[in-house]
Amino acid sequence: MDWGMKNRLSQIIKPDTGRTVMLAVDHGYFLGPTHKLEHVGTTVEPLLPYADALMLTRGILRSSIRPEISVPIVLRVSGGSSIIGADLSNETITTSMEDAVRLNVSAVALSIFIGTDFEHQTLGNLAFLIDMAQEYGIPVLAVTAVGKEIGKKDSRFLALACRIAAELGASFVKTYYCDEFEKIIESCPIPVVIAGGPKLDTDLDAFNLAYDAVQKGATGVDMGRNIWQSEFPVAKIKAVRAIVHDKVPPKQALEIFEENKKKKHSKI
Ligand code: R5P
Repeated sequence: MDWGMKNRLSQIIKPDTGRTVMLAVDHGYFLGPTHKLEHVGTTVEPLLPYADALMLTRGILRSSIRPEISVPIVLRVSGGSSIIGADLSNETITTSMEDAVRLNVSAVALSIFIGTDFEHQTLGNLAFLIDMAQEYGIPVLAVTAVGKEIGKKDSRFLALACRIAAELGASFVKTYYCDEFEKIIESCPIPVVIAGGPKLDTDLDAFNLAYDAVQKGATGVDMGRNIWQSEFPVAKIKAVRAIVHDKVPPKQALEIFEENKKKKHSKI
């Protein structure tokens, strides 16, 4: 791997633990206004000290995030469909590599929709993006999208999607946690991070999810709603960090969460 590619990846996946806590705020690219992301800059600002990377679109990056921040950017560069449109999986590449370079990003991210009418198109998007990104030494994060079918996909499906992303040359892949998650890890030669999905019923549920994923081999999380839709997002991300980087079990993470809830500015 070229020096630039390695350097960018190591900004995201921290070399001291080999893990990462990415903060995902790209939801508006197909959902439009999303609860707690109405003003992304305000939501994100207090969370930045605890995020190893920030995943978002160029429009929100330029309009809502201070350019002085030191958190690495993972730029979402796929889109072109919406939650109310005919088919969520009909995505294209929405940002040029030159613009990604201008924005000084550490990686670019694109969704693939395996098993849909747009499988071929989105896999073509991924292969094309990897060729372009390779020119500049920029890692590509493949996102194994499940569209509206979240919860219905199992380890067989997600392992297939992750493996295909790796075969096409993605640097790392984002998927969902599921039963027999270890099967995804066993057959995927690149780092795997997990999305959090819709906000879970309890804080402990979110901590269990993160813990089980890293225990079974995930490199970390790329979590959104379970952090910033929490009433105490700073406390939440601190607890998730403790799980991912310090390997603390879920009950101890809950204690960290409860302790941090009491601190000033823990609410946004
Ligand atoms: C996925 O493609 C979305 O754009 C989000 O980045 C992803 O789902 C992670 O956020 P959450 O933890 O809210 O699911």
